[in-house]
Amino acid sequence: MKNNILFLGPPGAGKGTQASIISEFNSCLHLSTGELLRNEVKLESDLGLQVKEIMNSGELVSDELVLEIVKKNLTNNNKGWILDGYPRNLSQASSLNEVLAKLNQPLEIVFYLNVNEEILVERLLNRGRSDDNELTIRKRLKIYNETTQPLIGYYEKQNILEYIEGNRDLNKISDDIKQKMAL
Ligand code: AP5
Repeated sequence: MKNNILFLGPPGAGKGTQASIISEFNSCLHLSTGELLRNEVKLESDLGLQVKEIMNSGELVSDELVLEIVKKNLTNNNKGWILDGYPRNLSQASSLNEVLAKLNQPLEIVFYLNVNEEILVERLLNRGRSDDNELTIRKRLKIYNETTQPLIGYYEKQNILEYIEGNRDLNKISDDIKQKMAL
């Protein structure tokens, strides 16, 4: 069973939704950098105050700040972990390799959730988070296409990438993921 997992995909692809389902299924750690950052904003901590505007504009928070959060929250876990929203660029992927080497827990499988852009926009507008307005969504999609998408090829070359069609019923997607984790 592969339990050290990364969910990759554009905003609204269902990374958080599937990561929650799978982490409940195998009792592993679910680490969402977006969720951790939103908690800091809610707490109005120094970090939260630093990142609030950046997140609302749809830009990425600095690699250094995000790495600090990942180091604090990603622990060696015998049930494994799911990374959701990290890494988001090649530099973050390389920092992650160093963190995982220290934990002695390599990434085993990357699920790339693919969903058509117009469906993504519709889903996010319906959700209505503070960064889910049309302008910010378009910005997040642009940054995803320019900065995060190269990670697909990066993990494909390592032979750990699994393509998942994300415009389907939630349960069909998680069944597909569970099946691939078991291979
Ligand atoms: P983050 O929270 O990671 O947001 P995101 O990547 O834009 O992803 P979303 O949460 O919008 O989408 P998702 O794929 O998780 O979909 P979800 O399951 O929620 O990041 C937010 C911000 O934080 C960034 O913009 C950046 O500023 C900062 N940040 C975070 N990580 C960072 C990093 N590593 N580096 C720098 N900055 C970072 O689903 C979306 C909606 O669709 C929901 O309403 C859901 O119910 C619905 N849905 C899901 N699946 C389905 C389905 N199969 N059918 C129908 N509806 C579905």
